[in-house]
Amino acid sequence: MPVDTQTQIPAFPFDRADDLTPPREYELLRGNSPAARITLYNGAEAWLLTRYEDVKATLSDHRFSADARNPGFPFVSAALRASVGQKHIPFLRLDPPEHDRLRRMLSREFIVKRIDGLRPAIESIVDRFIEQLLAAGEPADLIANFALPIPSAVIAELLGVPYGDHEYFQERGRRMLSSEFTLEESARAVVELREYLGELADRKREDPGDDVLSRLVLERESSGELHREDLKSSALLLLIAGHETTANMIGLGVYTLLRHPDQHALLRADPELIGKVVEELLRFLSIVHTGVPRVALEDVRIGDTLIRRGEGVIASVTAANWDGSTFAEPQRFDIRREPNRHLAFGFGIHQCLGQPLARKELEIALTRLFDRIPTLRLTGDQTFGPEKSVYGLHSLRVTW
Ligand code: HEM
Repeated sequence: MPVDTQTQIPAFPFDRADDLTPPREYELLRGNSPAARITLYNGAEAWLLTRYEDVKATLSDHRFSADARNPGFPFVSAALRASVGQKHIPFLRLDPPEHDRLRRMLSREFIVKRIDGLRPAIESIVDRFIEQLLAAGEPADLIANFALPIPSAVIAELLGVPYGDHEYFQERGRRMLSSEFTLEESARAVVELREYLGELADRKREDPGDDVLSRLVLERESSGELHREDLKSSALLLLIAGHETTANMIGLGVYTLLRHPDQHALLRADPELIGKVVEELLRFLSIVHTGVPRVALEDVRIGDTLIRRGEGVIASVTAANWDGSTFAEPQRFDIRREPNRHLAFGFGIHQCLGQPLARKELEIALTRLFDRIPTLRLTGDQTFGPEKSVYGLHSLRVTW
């Protein structure tokens, strides 16, 4: 396990054991020290939780705060620190009552019924990019032609952002999340995207559409419930949060199914299994590689360990989803797993708002891709990258 040379404390995040296996360190720590000391990119220390029950309990415990302004808040990279900012914080990194007030303004946009209504739009977006993939010629990169553009186009449609601007917002989104960039570069991306969304909100006021941004402007901002800066923060959160995550799940989902032909055959034989396939992919891949950060607001005991007020905690949803005491043979990709109460979308009040949308996108993308190109195969040419906060594929060459 790589350690900080000064303190001898393990340096987090750890590397994955292999392309489809979380870091081995989790197994060791889960057994020996379920709350383990770790060092972060800037030398700060925090606690890492690796057991399913501890992760779940912590994420639903009001003694742990998600407010990134707490001095002990455990940022895992400079980019993430910059993406949250200090002034206009997205509700992902706020506590109640502010969090609840801002989240409530969006919750009806993401209820299952509403998302079901988006099915035809998602299907036509998916079909468009299947054709793009086919037109790219063999071997084609499934990430650039299929996995990345789908969530981008879907969130653009939902939010009311012109898809023609996708290079602008994708590039800045990458700068906000990836540790390749400096704090200044990430902070600049935040400023630019906020400006962009502010200008777009002005245009929506003049010329509204049937989209989330228009409704926020006309219903919430006009009534004085939502200030412009908070509107920009929420719109930015939606634009960024569902992007890399869903794209990585689509890319890795295709890769995982092709690497597990027995499970893929089960799905082929019974397409109704797609819902269960998506759940097992979410558990098995657990792409939120750097975990879910919190700060203790009081002294809290986890097992034998006392976590003191003000100390940072990383609840590893990846480690939790591979905890053998909750999931039998966690290393097995088993699409018929039952029950499958994974924590891939987090837990508690911050549990992913976009999960009905992410599930729908994954179901439609995987189903239609394999229906249209049943002979899809891997070429063995792919690159993985855990350097962002979410794990995923940079490229995946496929043929058919
Ligand atoms: C498979 C894809 C996705 C994964 C794995 C994922 C994962 C997560 C996780 C783990 C959290 C909790 C973070 C925390 O507690 O600090 C979260 C929160 C959130 N996600 Fe997702 N997400 C996905 C897709 C999406 C999509 C498509 C959207 C929206 C378009 C979205 C919007 C959000 C928002 C707004 C929050 C903040 C919720 C709150 O703080 O109340 N996510 N997501």
